Amino acid sequence: MNVPSSADGAVVGLGAIDRTGTRPRVDDKAMINCRADVNQLLPLRYRWAWERYLAACNNHWMPTEVSMQADIALWRSPGGLSDDERRMVKRNLGFFAASESLVANNIVLAIYRHLTNPECRQYLLRQAFEEAIHTHTFQYICESLGLDEGELFNMYREVPSITDKAAWALRYTQNLADPQFGTGTTEADQSFLRDLVAFYVVFEGMWFYTGFAQILSLGRRNKMVGIAEQYQYILRDESLHLNFGIDVINQIKAENPHLWTAALQDEVRQMLHEACALEVAYGRDTMPRGLLGLNAEACADYMHTITNRRCAQLGLAPLFADTANPFPWMSEAMDLKKEKNFFETRVTEYQTGSSLKW
Ligand SMILES: [Fe+2]
Ligand SMILES: [Fe+2]
Repeated sequence: MNVPSSADGAVVGLGAIDRTGTRPRVDDKAMINCRADVNQLLPLRYRWAWERYLAACNNHWMPTEVSMQADIALWRSPGGLSDDERRMVKRNLGFFAASESLVANNIVLAIYRHLTNPECRQYLLRQAFEEAIHTHTFQYICESLGLDEGELFNMYREVPSITDKAAWALRYTQNLADPQFGTGTTEADQSFLRDLVAFYVVFEGMWFYTGFAQILSLGRRNKMVGIAEQYQYILRDESLHLNFGIDVINQIKAENPHLWTAALQDEVRQMLHEACALEVAYGRDTMPRGLLGLNAEACADYMHTITNRRCAQLGLAPLFADTANPFPWMSEAMDLKKEKNFFETRVTEYQTGSSLKW
């Protein structure tokens, strides 16, 4: 009989302590449906998860460490940005503002309890904090530029091209967040994989990338440089999130090959196809006329390239023929080491926690 993990304390990690049982061995550990104690980090089975946790900690940053002075001056200046640039920036911020919370809620309320491995959970806890930092970034931008917070944070409900994406992804997390949901059957485990694809591969691995390209393209023209710097740090975090998610999916596939059926593979390719179409529509909505160095057509080509890359990472055949990446500079933007050292931009009397008084 399948015992729903949501009601199963041993799997979740909050069950009664087994005082007489044997010590768990490394081979007892598993990604899903694991019966070994999830409260014992060591011995590590998935060193890649631990390495990603360490890498994430090394990337720590806070949005308030980035100066917004130049952005504020440009935003307030009547001719600083064109109307089309302002529309793109606002919709871009509006998409991210709520999306970071959706991703965080999916980790905490849907993914965490069903991923039964402590080193992966350690990474999830770090990722959840990073999503909070990203949400903080949009609060900080909103406050710095004096944007209408109601307009910004309601865009995911009020702007159809953004709502369509959020609604698409929410279907997958709603299924898992149902208190009756539990892994342990082929059907349920496949639902869990679908949610991982929807959030790690699509949300964080596809949909964030048009947004990064839009803002970093402005930054390359010396516009909204504070936001562009923050987006570089978010992009660095998100590429780790994506790679962790791909590793989790592929590890679950390797441990449970019966889940990765031809039908599910077709379905995942269809999911990526739908997600790509939603993103192309979002690109058209945010850039109806095209801007210097950026337009909806180039973003569509970029999304086709990204979609094919995600297919390859999941071991699936590409969806689009002959794609060319119109934004080769995005790969450089992802390698922050080539850019200026973040810490050199800090003032010398820098102090974390500006409210500290001695
Ligand atoms: Fe994020
Ligand atoms: Fe993320």
